[in-house]
Amino acid sequence: FEGMTVVELAKRTGESIATLQDILVNVGEKAGSEFDPLSIDVAELVGMEVGIKVRRQHFNGGAEILPRPPVVTVMGHVDHGKTSLLDALRQTSVAAKEAGGITQHLGAFVVGMPSGSSITFLDTPGHAAFSAMRARGAAVTDIVVLVVAADDGVMPQTLEAMSHAKAANVPVIVAINKCDKPAANPERVKIQLASEGLQLEEMGGDVQVVEVSAVKKTGLDDLEETLLLQAEIMDLKARVDRPAQAYVVEARLDKGHGPLATAIVNTGTLVCGQYVVAGSEWGRIRAIRDMVGKLADRAKPAMPVEIEGLKGLPMAGDDVVVVESEERARMLSAGRRKGNLRKIDLCR
Ligand code: GTP
Ligand code: MG
Repeated sequence: FEGMTVVELAKRTGESIATLQDILVNVGEKAGSEFDPLSIDVAELVGMEVGIKVRRQHFNGGAEILPRPPVVTVMGHVDHGKTSLLDALRQTSVAAKEAGGITQHLGAFVVGMPSGSSITFLDTPGHAAFSAMRARGAAVTDIVVLVVAADDGVMPQTLEAMSHAKAANVPVIVAINKCDKPAANPERVKIQLASEGLQLEEMGGDVQVVEVSAVKKTGLDDLEETLLLQAEIMDLKARVDRPAQAYVVEARLDKGHGPLATAIVNTGTLVCGQYVVAGSEWGRIRAIRDMVGKLADRAKPAMPVEIEGLKGLPMAGDDVVVVESEERARMLSAGRRKGNLRKIDLCR
């Protein structure tokens, strides 16, 4: 596609030449003739802004496509034990430290498995107020773990999580938690789920159900195994040898370091020193840290990292794109701020 013109791009995207020229100006290109050839970088950036992929052709050896870890989002009704379950998997204790025992943000963790493989987990809040966060969580993930408390059964946010997963076309694995409780009734939960249309495996469908207790740490091996099996079936791979596309999981302002964004790379590799645009914010990546705070010089697909160097706070769910210069970063961010550019569809 080297040398594609605005006219050709218009044909491929179905956008008008005028719209594409507006976008070109917004990403920092001069408004030349619609017959001037564009560089592949510019064509790709414009393609992204209108929500299509401009594919690069590789003539020398092909792309480096490697297996990547699964991204798993844990969802379910408030207090059903999502954070506790993740704590049990990571052998930490986040749930106990949360204000009021309620999760109010998305958290990202990498859990190493005994086999040497790893899983990237996203924790989501179960409180009714955080529906948008759950929708984003479902949209960026490979697999949803639906946590249902065995004593409480299917509740409103259980159903909401199911519909997010369905909308995002993401496979669900059910973890029936709190099986240690005297009032636990996993069979009742299964019947409830089935009557809500979930096709459980033991009833002839393909949705796996695992019975666990985050407190007694039972069923965890079973859950990990089920997740890795599902991931294997999905054969998850990503390009690594190209500029990264990532998405923001959460962002916060740090007194010393300024805006910090937790991001997960979809494809490509994010490298320290690159100019990026995250939603309508831009910056140059000053530091990349992994989820235990260790400095890294790059981030690969499915790896959650904290990036430092943005000028402002992006929003959870915002996409992150790499651009070639500060000028282009400023222009793209300004263009997006004007609101005349469409967002990239984040769904994989
Ligand atoms: P939100 O993030 O606010 O939606 O809650 P959550 O789903 O993350 O629940 P959390 O892990 O904070 O646990 C809620 C309560 O249930 C805590 O008091 C936990 O100790 C308790 N709990 C979690 N898992 C289990 C379990 O397996 N057994 C028992 N008995 N209690 C559990
Ligand atoms: Mg929680």
